[in-house]
Amino acid sequence: MDDDAPDDAFSELKTRELQRWDVAQIAVGTGLAVYAMWVGLLQPGFRKVPLRLQVPYIPASRAQVRNVMALLRGRKGVLVDLGSGDGRIVLEAHRQGFTSAVGYELNPWLVRLARFHAWRAGQHGNVSYRREDLWKVDLTECKNITVFLAPSVLSLLQKKMEAELPDDALVVAGRFPIPDWTPCRTEGHGVDRAWAYNMKAQRQLTPNKMKKSPDGHLEKILKERQTPLE
Ligand SMILES: C[S@@+](CC[C@H](N)C(=O)[O-])C[C@H]1O[C@@H](n2cnc3c(N)ncnc32)[C@H](O)[C@@H]1O
Repeated sequence: MDDDAPDDAFSELKTRELQRWDVAQIAVGTGLAVYAMWVGLLQPGFRKVPLRLQVPYIPASRAQVRNVMALLRGRKGVLVDLGSGDGRIVLEAHRQGFTSAVGYELNPWLVRLARFHAWRAGQHGNVSYRREDLWKVDLTECKNITVFLAPSVLSLLQKKMEAELPDDALVVAGRFPIPDWTPCRTEGHGVDRAWAYNMKAQRQLTPNKMKKSPDGHLEKILKERQTPLE
């Protein structure tokens, strides 16, 4: 019989337990680091935004940007990206001929990053990134609007756009469609897909949907968003 066997087995068990402990520590450490990055880098500016209106930063893919731009072809003037992230749509829009392109973004780090990208591309004088809450942006003069936001907030944004956008506005939504609208054109497939909506046609197609919601719930949220954030 091997006398060392129980000792060996015990030390092996201890080593295994230590390894498990190490793995657990690494997992907890990584979790905390990711959380700290989320709170510190990705979430500032959102502290006073109700949870149901918070949208995480996910940059549009190259194909998505291409599809959005394809749907905007032939349009000119000013373009507004609501929730502009690192500014890629705004920058590309200016490259494609929009005389002025503006991004509204709540996260100050992303606004800085977008400005850096514009500066690196030699376009910093031609595009503009504003640290503003998109729910407070007056859309009454906007003719070209791009959005890539979470489905959870799109029906509220739909209400805001219905109430404010001029008839000759074109809205291009990336990745997720505007819930109750009928697109005049679409481009691409899967997660890179984009939908274009002509505001005048939209109003003619769905006049009933442009009425106030029966319980006034959406109006209430929109009204709340008019109060100062900070
Ligand atoms: C899915 S990302 C899209 C970024 C960019 N438009 C693109 O296509 O790459 C949505 C962005 O909207 C921003 N955002 C969310 N809620 C906002 C708000 N109330 N006001 C301004 N920006 C907001 C987020 O910080 C995030 O950067």
